[in-house]
Amino acid sequence: MENLAEKEPSMTSWWMEYFLPAYGEFTTKALGSAEYKLKAWHLQLIGVFPAFQRRGVGTALIKHTEEIIKHSPDLSDESKRMCLETESEGGLAFYKSCGFVDKGLMQVKSDEKMNKTAPMWCVAKELS
Ligand SMILES: CC(C)(COP(=O)(O)OP(=O)(O)OC[C@H]1O[C@@H](n2cnc3c(N)ncnc32)[C@H](O)[C@@H]1OP(=O)(O)O)[C@@H](O)C(=O)NCCC(=O)NCCS
Repeated sequence: MENLAEKEPSMTSWWMEYFLPAYGEFTTKALGSAEYKLKAWHLQLIGVFPAFQRRGVGTALIKHTEEIIKHSPDLSDESKRMCLETESEGGLAFYKSCGFVDKGLMQVKSDEKMNKTAPMWCVAKELS
């Protein structure tokens, strides 16, 4: 955030004043409560080198994570859940193929200078 503030000061206020509150409101509504994401396993980042995509590697990574969750002791049903946000149609198709359910779509607005929007889907999967 420090680097961003130096490079493009308007991005800091975009992130803090627009994106974070709008994102919080969107995921709370999509998932049904703010607690859902706090108790679930929220996946941050997954990536497969382009040369190795569409060979089942991403699916294997998700399955591995699911096994870790399923075998974690003393988890309540509310914690046997995965959720995440994805910004591409390909990502959405991938998560759906892994059994995630599309919970909602937000059109993220850029700052006024760029005046664009980009989609962000919220998806979730129950493991209990
Ligand atoms: C998304 C990503 C992790 C998927 O990994 P992968 O190893 O290619 O996925 P898999 O081979 O396990 O795909 C399983 C299925 O998901 C679906 N799928 C995966 N990528 C897709 C794409 N780009 N478009 C449409 N469907 C896709 C397909 O149904 C696929 O089965 P198929 O190949 O038999 O048709 C990988 O494409 C990637 O790293 N993308 C760039 C980074 C990214 O977008 N990460 C997600 C950010 S939230």
